[in-house]
Amino acid sequence: MATNITFHPGSIEASERVELLKQKGVTIWLTGLSASGKSTIACALEQHLLHMHKFVYRLDGDNVRFGLNKDLGFDEKSRVENIRRIGEVSKLFADSACIAVTAFISPYKADRAVARELHEKANLGFVEVFVDAPLSVVEQRDPKGLYKKARAGEIKDFTGISAPYEPPEYPELHIKTNECDVSKAVEKIMEHLVAHGYIS
Ligand code: PPS
Repeated sequence: MATNITFHPGSIEASERVELLKQKGVTIWLTGLSASGKSTIACALEQHLLHMHKFVYRLDGDNVRFGLNKDLGFDEKSRVENIRRIGEVSKLFADSACIAVTAFISPYKADRAVARELHEKANLGFVEVFVDAPLSVVEQRDPKGLYKKARAGEIKDFTGISAPYEPPEYPELHIKTNECDVSKAVEKIMEHLVAHGYIS
């Protein structure tokens, strides 16, 4: 970390910003295997919230790796750094009173815990959503043909095959995408946001 730096607070309190913008910031953190349905749910949720005129922004694993995180691969160290950056970026979005929807595999419990802690320390909401589908199901879906390549040894460190995925123990929401369709998943997340006062 750099030395000789000083944090510069703004002239607006967090609560004042929420009041002025009439929106409370929160991060909805979707985690799960590749092809579990994270991106599909994130897109549908973003669309739903935008149609309610809410300030919402989606951060997606594949997309962010084209820009901000293009220097990162899929070895453990890179994934830790990937999630560290997304934890920080989503916190900034939530701090701006935005609803940040993140769709990253985020395979390690410890990294998700760091992202949660960052938000909670800043008094910002963090909703962990486990987008769950068994490996046999996601492998069957294989929309990008990545599981096939991973099984053939053409992709190394592939989550669920040759790299670990640590499922959340106590997520705020657990959505089983082989039992629940996209609109039901959005409905469940919306119910949670309303029940916890993020959306009125
Ligand atoms: S992580 O684990 O959170 O750092 O991964 P993330 O940034 O979400 O990126 C996952 C997407 O990258 C593609 N991809 C891989 N996934 C897992 N393991 C390996 N080795 C890999 N290589 C490429 C894949 O398209 C993932 O997208 P999703 O939407 O999860 O299928």
